[in-house]
Amino acid sequence: MRRPVLAFLADQQRWEAWRAPVLAALAERGIKAELRFGAETPEEVDYILYAPTAARVDFSTFTRARAVLNLWAGVEGIVTDPSLTQPLCRMVDTSLVTGMVEYVTGHVLRHHLGMDRHVLGQDGIWRGREVPPLAADRSVGVLGLGELGAACAGALASLGFRVTGWSRRCRSLAGITCLDGTAGLDALVSQAEILVLLLPLTPATEGLIEAGVLARARPGVVLINPGRGGLIEDSALIAALDEGRVGHATLDAFREEPLPPEHPFWHHSKVTVTPHIAAATRPETAARVLAENIRRGEAGEPFLHLVDRAAGY
Ligand code: NDP
Ligand code: OXD
Repeated sequence: MRRPVLAFLADQQRWEAWRAPVLAALAERGIKAELRFGAETPEEVDYILYAPTAARVDFSTFTRARAVLNLWAGVEGIVTDPSLTQPLCRMVDTSLVTGMVEYVTGHVLRHHLGMDRHVLGQDGIWRGREVPPLAADRSVGVLGLGELGAACAGALASLGFRVTGWSRRCRSLAGITCLDGTAGLDALVSQAEILVLLLPLTPATEGLIEAGVLARARPGVVLINPGRGGLIEDSALIAALDEGRVGHATLDAFREEPLPPEHPFWHHSKVTVTPHIAAATRPETAARVLAENIRRGEAGEPFLHLVDRAAGY
């Protein structure tokens, strides 16, 4: 029987990190496959393992490919590719979820507790009379209630925060006030003291956080964006930070990555830049997700984590 051929289309560094975990995950499922690096002889390839760091790929040359398995959760770099007609699956992985929950919880707690004042302000003045707020006094809004947003919202709610979430379709999540639609966004934004962005970048979410939304937000709102840079209009955010309407922005994703050294975000006293590390995809667990989809493809079963091409995520 012919062994399925897998083409790994990403940069050399990723190939070195993923090769052994992918082979191990395939072996774990008893899948005998041939794993290749690069896009040579595309007509022989059954599954494409893809990261947006690969050189431009013409997917139409992969005439027998049954699926493109994205190594990333976000698919904005591939979903509109006109040469892509194969099913596209994105990465949903427990380590990615856990990493994001830790990042979001950590940064929410930093702002909730005002940690910077103590961490950065060791000035010899004893300010012992301040009573720190409790989570139950703090309203957090989470935009995007998917794999990552729902997990983060749940973790924050379990710490006691008052959490409101927003999604495209109406959701029902224990302990979270779930909203949708434009009115839902306005309601969430007008009450949240901390806003977490975990939306995908699509035509509907591009530039969502613009001057009008920021003007309706609570004065001094803190923004945490591990979603995508394109969700925010940079100049509107900088103006809102300068005017004090936004108290702080912790940003992990940017319109241009790496964020150029001269970008104002690097130099703004109310901005924290983290270099797209909110949740790293760990090959050891993520390779199992790829292997499971290859097993499904070979067994004629439906793929997991299929992207809705029309919705863009
Ligand atoms: P999901 O697809 O599981 O969830 C997306 C959520 O956004 C869903 O709740 C969806 O609504 C909602 N949504 C999409 N479009 C709209 C819209 N127009 N209006 C309102 N809500 C909308 O994605 P994940 O949770 O897995 O990931 C979210 C994003 O996080 C990724 O797309 C990626 O950009 C980013 N990411 C960042 C990482 C980092 O390290 N910085 C790592 C991994 C991901 P509905 O529930 O109705 O479908
Ligand atoms: C992402 C990822 O989509 O790292 O940002 O998976």
